[in-house]
Amino acid sequence: MTASQHAAAMGAPTDMVRCPIMPTYGPPSVQFLRGEGSWLWDRDDNRYLDLLSGLAVTSLGHTHPAVATALAEQSQRLLHVSNLFGTEHNGPVALTLDRLLGGGGQVFFSNSGAEANEAALKLARKFGGRGRHVVISAYGSFHGRTLATLHATGQPAKHEAFQPLPEGFRHVTWSDLDELEAAIDDTVAAVLLEPVQGEGGVNPATAEYFQGVRRLCDERGLLFMVDEVQTGLGRCGRWFAHQHFDVVPDVVTMAKALGNGVPIGACWARAQVAAVFEPGDHATTYGGQPLATAAARAVLQVMEDQDVPARATRAGALLSERLGALDHVRTVRGLGLLLAVELDVDGLGATAGQVAALLLSRGVVVNAVTPTALRLAPSLLISDEEIDLAVDAIGAALADLRAVPREPLP
Ligand SMILES: Cc1ncc(COP(=O)(O)O)c(C=O)c1O
Repeated sequence: MTASQHAAAMGAPTDMVRCPIMPTYGPPSVQFLRGEGSWLWDRDDNRYLDLLSGLAVTSLGHTHPAVATALAEQSQRLLHVSNLFGTEHNGPVALTLDRLLGGGGQVFFSNSGAEANEAALKLARKFGGRGRHVVISAYGSFHGRTLATLHATGQPAKHEAFQPLPEGFRHVTWSDLDELEAAIDDTVAAVLLEPVQGEGGVNPATAEYFQGVRRLCDERGLLFMVDEVQTGLGRCGRWFAHQHFDVVPDVVTMAKALGNGVPIGACWARAQVAAVFEPGDHATTYGGQPLATAAARAVLQVMEDQDVPARATRAGALLSERLGALDHVRTVRGLGLLLAVELDVDGLGATAGQVAALLLSRGVVVNAVTPTALRLAPSLLISDEEIDLAVDAIGAALADLRAVPREPLP
């Protein structure tokens, strides 16, 4: 069955089925036209509670008025000039990011998370020098889909169709310091890790692991690079999730929440590391352009005004406590408002994907981050009433699934 036939079978509107879009994603079953706060509306005006935020992007909810106003005003003033010239917002945004990261660094703006990581990888290679270019990352990680970030991504199954991938990547078991130490030789320039493996199943690192990595990097003269594309900017209850672990990385990448839906990413590095880049070493036409940085500036202002890390801590604790008390929920893991709900799929007779599909049909957006776990990454401004609605809807879906006798899972 082709992707469009599958989409038609799923009941997707015919004009969506006919679109000449490459089948890199499964067929969509819903088309969203409008959003506000934690809510989305589809083309038939059905309302959905969004507990996924476009995969941890719309951290301030949909169409936040401060972001919308900043975009509208900027679109009428100046949309774009080259990075050959100065613009209004990239300096203030870089200053704020540097302050939130503890200061003493510099920022390169990109358009996405993968591009922020590409900048980090190029920094590592130039910092290491010829012959010292290998980057070690962890199995289960996710760092992007460009050829280099795909190889950094520790998921060999995703590599196979695209071999040969750029040379210079090595993978080690997540959270195993001895294995990391054994993998370091004279060719290694950097270690790249997520503080919480997001796509890999929402697996938080421990302070012991991150502190151990920092110590090893110091001893062996390596860069410790932290990928905060999914975890950064308040999502995990600190401005950056690694701040839970009391370590200071050499490089931090981020994207998703920075534009609240407007594509922008950033790679921050300690000034001594950033200094290895010279004019001409790295560039991107759109990176740090006026529209994207106007959005980021408004986002950061609202995030600071609302103290989103504190909100994520409080709302995350409430949500995980209430979800953890539901029947057929085994555990809830994560940090702040990046959570995985591990389900008793055998008892339910349904996979996490089937639970997510049922929830979507009932107007609740989540995703299945593994076959047994749902991922929740709601707006950091989610209200207590919305948390109640979310928990009630998930509890009802699990109870209804349990009530229907079905064959055991294969
Ligand atoms: C930790 C992490 N790094 C990098 C990326 C890639 O970001 P993008 O899809 O914006 O290229 C993602 C995307 O999910 C991510 O979660």
